[in-house]
Amino acid sequence: MTLTIKPIDPVSRPLFAGVVSGIDITKPLTASEAQQIERGMDEFGVLVFHGQAFTDETQMAFSRNFGELELATNNLRDGRDRLGAHIADISNLDQNNNVLARDNRRRLFSLGTRLWHSDSSFKVVPAKYSLLSARIIPDAGGNTEFASMKLAYDELDEETKAECENLVCEHSQLFSRALIGFGDFTDAERKAFAPVKQLLVRRHPSTGRKSLYLASHAGTIVGWPIPEARAFLRDLTEHATQRKFVYSHKWTVNDLVVWDNQQTMHRSRPFDATQVRDMHRTTVAGLRSTMAEAA
Ligand code: OGA
Ligand code: MN
Repeated sequence: MTLTIKPIDPVSRPLFAGVVSGIDITKPLTASEAQQIERGMDEFGVLVFHGQAFTDETQMAFSRNFGELELATNNLRDGRDRLGAHIADISNLDQNNNVLARDNRRRLFSLGTRLWHSDSSFKVVPAKYSLLSARIIPDAGGNTEFASMKLAYDELDEETKAECENLVCEHSQLFSRALIGFGDFTDAERKAFAPVKQLLVRRHPSTGRKSLYLASHAGTIVGWPIPEARAFLRDLTEHATQRKFVYSHKWTVNDLVVWDNQQTMHRSRPFDATQVRDMHRTTVAGLRSTMAEAA
């Protein structure tokens, strides 16, 4: 078997989203295989692997080829987690594997993934890669969409590029949840979700390429009036999520999709909420805050 990476859509998006074949990533990788995958990630931003029957253990082992794993704090934790500390539960199931009720608090919070975002941009050191494994999928819907913030940056006009340069945003899950009208946070959650600063234009740590670091978690631009900042970020997001920059992934069971949060945004799409959708995510932590780039 030879590891091969091809653009999923060579005509519309030759430089964004690849499909990898010729490798079983549920087994330990050689150093050279891990390097080839990392180079593919740098180039494509999103890689799709089909037919990878992961357990949580083999998924964690594969993920650790690319760095340290983040603790899974993406969802509200109610002390009865279904999955281990390094597996983010991207499902609509409770700890007994029953589908969450429509008004379940964790379900409503997790609907925030329907907004364009980059994982953990609200952490001081945000995520490098997210790796999402499809264990059970609904009959229809539930795609995940990805947008290239590198291509979106490249296509900004020069005035807008200049305006974005050196701007600092504050990111918090309080901002993204406010957008969908979820606001019943405890004092402890409000404290845990205190905003963190990130550059609006970031440089990729491996390729040096610039990209827009947008996310619905971004709620302010330091030094700007809030309505002006929100309007500007909304315009940028509209530009950056034009269809030409977007790959929509239709899931098959045992797909693993890996995305580089340092150069993409993503969002989930709706599905019949009475059906089970069980996805397990590992997250590789980045090495430093984007604010360290400015230094
Ligand atoms: C995530 C996420 C989208 C989806 O796992 O970080 O945003 O389609 N998932 O489940
Ligand atoms: Mn996400």
